[in-house]
Amino acid sequence: RHILLINGPNLNLLGRREPHIYGSTTLADVEAQAHAQAASLDISLETFQSNHEGAIVDRIQEAAGWGLTAKSLDAPSSAESDGGEQSKNNSNRPDRVSAIVINPGALTHTSVAVRDALLGVNIPFVELHVSNVYAREPWRKHSYFSDKAVAIICGMGAYGYTAAIEFAARHMKLEEV
Ligand code: DQA
Repeated sequence: RHILLINGPNLNLLGRREPHIYGSTTLADVEAQAHAQAASLDISLETFQSNHEGAIVDRIQEAAGWGLTAKSLDAPSSAESDGGEQSKNNSNRPDRVSAIVINPGALTHTSVAVRDALLGVNIPFVELHVSNVYAREPWRKHSYFSDKAVAIICGMGAYGYTAAIEFAARHMKLEEV
């Protein structure tokens, strides 16, 4: 059972960026807490942050055990395919992530590409926002993710990450990998 926590653009600035909106907890604090929580829940967890839409798409594809290129998509991707590109690329990772917790940042409101990546890999995901996006600018109310998310968390501050991981670990049927 393996959870991938993804943070999108500007979330590397958590704790420093608009603290009246996003609070004072840093991304390093969030990720350290997430790792401790995962250990106590007996699941494995990986964290990924990027300011780049394409890098997030690539990481989501990898979460399915798929490579980054069209060529490796043709190759068998299971762990049994000894010596395959994929098992080399991901030697320290389980082949497949069982759930994704994602704070897409501003990509929430813009990214068909990240939405399509999540739908393409067919891995269940929880969408999370540190702030209450419904109490802010009107355009933040639209998300490219919410209609496909298993659950949505917003406005809980940094605690939202704890809540999302707890929910993903205990209430989503995670595949054994
Ligand atoms: C955010 C909300 C988004 O509207 C914003 O662009 C972010 C962070 C949040 O965590 O509250 O970057 O996803």
